[in-house]
Amino acid sequence: MGRLGKFWDSSVGKKIVMGATGVILVGFLIIHMAGNLQLFLGAERFNAYSKLLKHDIIELTWIVRLTLLVSVVLHAVAAYQLTMRNKAARPEPYAKRVPQVSTYASQTMRYGGVYLLLFIVYHIGHFTTGTFHPAFSESGTFGNVLIGFSTWPIALFYLGAMGFLSLHLYHGIWAAFRTLGLARPSGDPLKRQIALVLAIVVAGGFSLVPLAVKLGLVH
Ligand code: HEM
Repeated sequence: MGRLGKFWDSSVGKKIVMGATGVILVGFLIIHMAGNLQLFLGAERFNAYSKLLKHDIIELTWIVRLTLLVSVVLHAVAAYQLTMRNKAARPEPYAKRVPQVSTYASQTMRYGGVYLLLFIVYHIGHFTTGTFHPAFSESGTFGNVLIGFSTWPIALFYLGAMGFLSLHLYHGIWAAFRTLGLARPSGDPLKRQIALVLAIVVAGGFSLVPLAVKLGLVH
């Protein structure tokens, strides 16, 4: 087995891959969330921004898409394999588990992660390809968003995803700090605060869009 194979095969290697791909995904989320807030600047501005991404810098868009795809796949596969390994190492659950460092966020990582994977598939079919959208327009992203959130179940599905995203980011960013060696093994409060602020800003910023549409604040 080559060095790369050995690295991937080790549990520490998989954790490093999860941390590194997580950093890439968080970077994308911050940019995507900030881009989405342009919705509040009006239809013309938002559609121009969407056109820029989809047509004007299309080569860069494809590089970003491929990087994201590879990152999500590696992140999810490493998480799945680590879970399986942990289960194999300890087939019997602990009789009475009193989590010390474990938080509500860390306990939702697995099913929250699955919800987010399903969300991403739906989301791309909703706003990028239009497969799940009732009135998709290639050049009218602003209208796509307004119509896309016109029904409550869809808006709530998105807000639920943002709830899981905040928990996932809170635990994941802090865990990545530890894995990538930026925090001491103990629960460093400053790193937890950075993770908390990032989780609230990203998930909160995303949530503003469906909330504003439902409250009739954007037309
Ligand atoms: C309320 C939250 C969100 C809203 C309103 C939203 C909105 C949008 C819109 C309108 C597009 C299409 C952009 C265009 O075609 O110009 C898009 C694309 C996309 N979004 Fe989101 N998004 C949200 C959350 C997320 C989250 C949490 C993720 C990742 C976990 C995500 C990942 C993506 C991806 C991968 C694309 C496709 C980019 C491409 O390949 O063209 N989005 N989003």
